[in-house]
Amino acid sequence: MVDTTTFRDVMSQWPSGVTVVTTLSGDGAWHGMTASSFSSVSLEPPLVSICLTKTLYSHQLIADSGVFGVNVLAKDQVEVGRRFAGMDKGAVDRFAGESWTTDQTGVPLLDSALGWFDCRVVHAYPGGDHTIFVGEVVGAHAARRSAPLLFHSRGWGQFADVLPDVATLSDPGVVGGLAAAGRNHEIAHVAAGVASAGSRVRVADLTSAASLAEAEAMVPRTLLLDAASVLVADRAQADLVLAAGVSTVEITLDPAVPGCTEELIAQLQGIEAQTAVRVLDPFDPARFDAVLDAVERLAALGVLEIGLSDAAGAATPLRVRAFLQEAVALARPVPLRMGLHDRDRLGLVKAIIALKSGVRHFDTTLAGIDGAVATEDLIRLLEEVDVDTPVDSAALTVLARDLRSAADTASNPPLLVETSTPQIVGAAG
Ligand SMILES: Cc1cc2nc3c(=O)[nH]c(=O)nc-3n(C[C@H](O)[C@H](O)[C@H](O)COP(=O)(O)O)c2cc1C
Repeated sequence: MVDTTTFRDVMSQWPSGVTVVTTLSGDGAWHGMTASSFSSVSLEPPLVSICLTKTLYSHQLIADSGVFGVNVLAKDQVEVGRRFAGMDKGAVDRFAGESWTTDQTGVPLLDSALGWFDCRVVHAYPGGDHTIFVGEVVGAHAARRSAPLLFHSRGWGQFADVLPDVATLSDPGVVGGLAAAGRNHEIAHVAAGVASAGSRVRVADLTSAASLAEAEAMVPRTLLLDAASVLVADRAQADLVLAAGVSTVEITLDPAVPGCTEELIAQLQGIEAQTAVRVLDPFDPARFDAVLDAVERLAALGVLEIGLSDAAGAATPLRVRAFLQEAVALARPVPLRMGLHDRDRLGLVKAIIALKSGVRHFDTTLAGIDGAVATEDLIRLLEEVDVDTPVDSAALTVLARDLRSAADTASNPPLLVETSTPQIVGAAG
């Protein structure tokens, strides 16, 4: 027979999710413990199993009460997992500090869990020094869509997506950046070059137009490329631009303004599949809830994509990670597009984090002309980590080099201009 050390060593290589199993004592007091031996057993009837050490207090209580709850922990609930495993020696009340509810059986169910099952024991099978309790699920709730907490190799962990085979790039900044730098004569050539290399390019920003006629005059007819996008302020501008043959409209949403998300969703009816919605300031923790709510609703509407831009570069890499773990799950199957700024040279770090969190689409700017991560730098990074891009990387790299060297000549002002949102982008060179 295999010895316990070897058995434990091999078992520790088996990754699992983490749950808190709860139950009641005879006087109705709550009790709970961390358990990873949870498993789905049957769909009809709905049955689940947990496997508990016979000597545990929880084991005794479940055997006596015949009821238990299973609460699936989320990626940010290590403390809860530790406390209910008895690892937090200072914890007097394991339930303190969390919000709990009850359903059919009266066992405590964790509001902030990913989901919970409320169960009645229908079988208890001997399993060596454990008992396998099979429970019929009498209540269940998917409380939150996010990433799960994991346990592997005696440590707590989180999911990291495998790197994708392919990532796409679009360029919302080069045309505006050139215009802001007074380099209008280069716009047509550069925009055409970016588009023909396979990257979407934003050719105009109509949001400053005072009237529809003014907006119409700002649509650069000579830049109407297949792979173009135009940033618009409202539905009227969107219709104008789509009628002119532009494939994608971009529109900005500030989800923190009450009613704004509903209003935008109403406006986008019928053109949602051609609309990329850019969510303003998504990584500000004070806006997390409003932004996540908007992401979920835009995904339900079926927009083309949801843009999350770190426009000022202020989001820390960990904040980007925490936010994307929630947003990717909520947006599915609508893709998220991450806009990368290069403040503190952390743009590429955030790109890797976004890739490992399930993001496959990026906004960068050729030559980093507006302070965003430079397209050619992201291309180099993607090449290094074996992620393909459906763009002509060589052509973009040459174009970026030309753009930089043109900026170095005396006739041009400095390349880096302090604008993250270009205002007037209508000049067609
Ligand atoms: C990640 C993790 C998973 C665990 N899974 C189980 C399990 O499935 N079954 C079990 O009997 N103990 C499991 N334990 C151990 C119990 O959580 C621990 O013994 C707890 O203190 C029992 O609480 P109690 O003594 O108050 O009943 C696990 C511990 C950890 C850290």
